[in-house]
Amino acid sequence: MGERRSRALVRVDSLDTRDSRSSGIINSHMMTRRSLLKMGVGAAGWLATSGVGFGALCPSVTTPRQTRGPYFPYDLVVSHPIRESGDAGISLIEANDHDLTRIKGKKGRAKGHIIYFQGQVLRPLVHVQEQSVECQPLAGAEVFLWQANFSGRYNHQRDEMTQAHFQHPVSGSMIERVHDEFFQYWGKALTDEQGRFQFKTILPGFYPAADGWYRPPHLHFSIHAPGYPEFVTQTYFRGEAIPDSDVIHQLNRHDHILQDSRIDTKQREQVIVEYQRDPAGVLTDGLVGTCQFFLPS
Ligand SMILES: [Fe+2]
Repeated sequence: MGERRSRALVRVDSLDTRDSRSSGIINSHMMTRRSLLKMGVGAAGWLATSGVGFGALCPSVTTPRQTRGPYFPYDLVVSHPIRESGDAGISLIEANDHDLTRIKGKKGRAKGHIIYFQGQVLRPLVHVQEQSVECQPLAGAEVFLWQANFSGRYNHQRDEMTQAHFQHPVSGSMIERVHDEFFQYWGKALTDEQGRFQFKTILPGFYPAADGWYRPPHLHFSIHAPGYPEFVTQTYFRGEAIPDSDVIHQLNRHDHILQDSRIDTKQREQVIVEYQRDPAGVLTDGLVGTCQFFLPS
């Protein structure tokens, strides 16, 4: 098998719309040095006071697994190929970096409200004798983010079949679900030695999922930590600084995926991320949200 073929890492024969537990999308051992550089170790700029330190206690619940959904950007199903690298040997998702607000080589910026997602990947270590749960940061984990653009549209052929416009459930105004040529619909980051990573992106729009059901704004994550099967989840939004925060709160309360009965209240709280202005005044062009992913031990 030639090198080029060996670097086509994304499995395209198993488009999975329901089961979040399938694993093996990316073979981390096959990463090239160049692709590692591309994804960036995205923790630079993390709020100094954020994150869980070594030896800190973990909460008793782990982050809930949630569905991958139908819009993961496998190579064969995107509507608008977006690739920062011109090397077709690198899979579509692997090619992009952790700033979704710009596509290298294009002059424009993505439409929408800029947000910074500051994440941390941790493993709870249970100490039976002390009856405590210690958090261990997971370094070198690959974190993939994919999401809708400002108008609630994904870059995916399946999304072409859903409504091109819909009525805002509260204001009644018509929302056009349009493509944004400057938005990088997915990206990738690598955790640092403290398990931290960062994405710069935009607040995704909400969109109709079924009769009377609107998916609230959300981010999809797929985490590949060394020694772990793939972990797939979604995060949501809250905070008064977020535009339309009242509507988003209502959509969160009625979302069939977030409100799944298999997710308990504490787990649900973990994935509804509060966004605020950077209290340190460093990240001035957007809101900042922090979230810890507690993987099952
Ligand atoms: Fe989604």
